[in-house]
Amino acid sequence: SKGAAMVTAVAFRFAAQQAERQRILDTLRLSRQQLLEVKRRMSEQMLRGLSKQTHEQSSLKMLPTYVRSTPDGTEHGDFLALDLGGSSFRVLLVRIESGERNNVDMHHKIYSIPQEFMQGTGDELFSHIVTCIADFLEYMGMRGASLPLGFTFSFPCHQSKLDEGILLQWTKGFKASGCEGQDVVTLLKEATRCKGEFDLSFVAVVNDTVGTMMTCGYEDCQCEVGLIVGTGTNICYMEEMQNVELVEGDDGRMCVNMEWGAFGENGELDDFCTKFDQEVDEFSNYPGKQRYEKMISGMYLGEIVRNVLIEFTAKGLLFRGKDPERLRTRGIFETKFLSQIESDRLAMRQIRSILQHLGLTGSTCDDSVLVKEVCAVVSRRAAQLCGAGLAAVVEKIRQSRNLNQLSVTVGVDGTLYKRHPHFSSIMQETLQDLAPQCQVTFHKSEDGSGKGAALITAVACRMDRCGQ
Ligand code: GLC
Repeated sequence: SKGAAMVTAVAFRFAAQQAERQRILDTLRLSRQQLLEVKRRMSEQMLRGLSKQTHEQSSLKMLPTYVRSTPDGTEHGDFLALDLGGSSFRVLLVRIESGERNNVDMHHKIYSIPQEFMQGTGDELFSHIVTCIADFLEYMGMRGASLPLGFTFSFPCHQSKLDEGILLQWTKGFKASGCEGQDVVTLLKEATRCKGEFDLSFVAVVNDTVGTMMTCGYEDCQCEVGLIVGTGTNICYMEEMQNVELVEGDDGRMCVNMEWGAFGENGELDDFCTKFDQEVDEFSNYPGKQRYEKMISGMYLGEIVRNVLIEFTAKGLLFRGKDPERLRTRGIFETKFLSQIESDRLAMRQIRSILQHLGLTGSTCDDSVLVKEVCAVVSRRAAQLCGAGLAAVVEKIRQSRNLNQLSVTVGVDGTLYKRHPHFSSIMQETLQDLAPQCQVTFHKSEDGSGKGAALITAVACRMDRCGQ
C-alpha cells in the first residue's frame, strides 16, 4: 500500500542518514594500529630531539630544564611564585618550612590578563604582571619585600641555566609582540626596575609540567613525569644526563620539557587529521603549529566539535538542516560544556538546555543524542592520542634505564584532565594497552605549578645557586 511504501521510504532515509553520520564520525576514530603508529613516531621524534645532530629537525624540542634534583625536605624559606599561561594568572606566596615534608603554606590571588595584554606588546604584558606582583605584596602586607621568585611560564623556552628562559614562540592564546627570542627573566626584571616598588633577587623559570612533577615528587619520589592536559597539553620527564646531548655532563638525570604539543609539525599526524582538524588549525593563532595540542587540549576540542556540527547541519543531519547562526561563532563550545554534555548523570533534556544556552535553539532529542556522540568521539580520540604519546614517554624511561619493568608515577594537572568525566580513564586504558611493561600511577596535582615553581626555587637556594 501507499502508507507502507511511505514508511519504508522514511525508514530508508533514516538508515541512510545514520550511515552518513557514522561515516563522518569514523574519520575521527582511531584504530589500535594507528595508535601504535602514533606511539612509534613519538618515540622517533624524542630520540631526534635529544640528539645534538638531529635536534633542529625534530618536531619535539626536548628542552633541558636545568632541574636535576628533586626536593629532599630540607629546603625552606619564603618564595614568590607566578603562574602564567594556564586558565588563570596567579601570584603566590609560598612558605616552606624545613623538616617535615608537606609543610608548605600558600597564599594566592588570581588576576586577569585582559585580551589586549595577551596580544598587545610585551612591555604592556610584563608591566601588567609587575603591577599584579606589587598589588599582591601590598595585599600580603609585604610591600617592598625582596624575595626569590619561581616563575611558572608555560611556553617553550630555551634555557642554559635555571634563571633564564628565552621564549622560542608563544602558544595557546598569547601573542604579545617583542617577546619571542627574548629572555623572560630580563623582561620581568626590566619591568620591575621601571616600576621601582620592589626587587627580584632571583628568578627561576619553570614550565608548568615541571612544576607539577616537582610538587608530586615532593610527596612521591617515584614521580618522574609531569603531564598537563588543560588549555594546552605538554609533558616532562626525568632523562639520563648522557642522553641529554644538548647539556654537558653524563652524571645523573635532568628533567626534559618535551613540548609535545608541537608533535605533528613535521607531518607526523597528517594521516590522522580530518578536515575538521584542518579547519581548526587554519583559523587558529598559529596555523601549522602545535598540531598534537590542537587534537587534544581544552582550547581546541570544542572547536573540533563545532566544526563537525556545522558539517552535520549543512548535510541536513542535525538541527533539521537549519543553520543556527550561533554555530558559526568561534569558541562557543568551551571545554566545560564538553565535560557537562558528556557527563553520564545528565539527561538528554539537560543537554538540550545546554544547547539552548549556547544559542542552539530548536534542537530535538535526536539532536542531543547526536551532539553527545560527537563530543564523545572527539574527546575519546584526544584521550587515546594522549595515552599513545604517554606510552612512548614511559617506554623511553624504561629503556633508558635498561629495565624489564618500570614502575613510575605521573603527576597530572589541567582542567580537561580533571573535569572531563572520561578523559583520564580512556587515556589510562590506552596507555596500559600500548605500554604493558610499565606500571603507571597517576597523581592529580593540586596547585602543582605554583607550588612546584617555589620548590624548584627553594632547591636552587638550598644549593646556594640563588645567592641568598
Ligand atoms: C603549551 C605550552 C607548554 C605548556 C602547555 C600546557 O603547549 O607550549 O609550554 O606546558 O601549553 O600549559
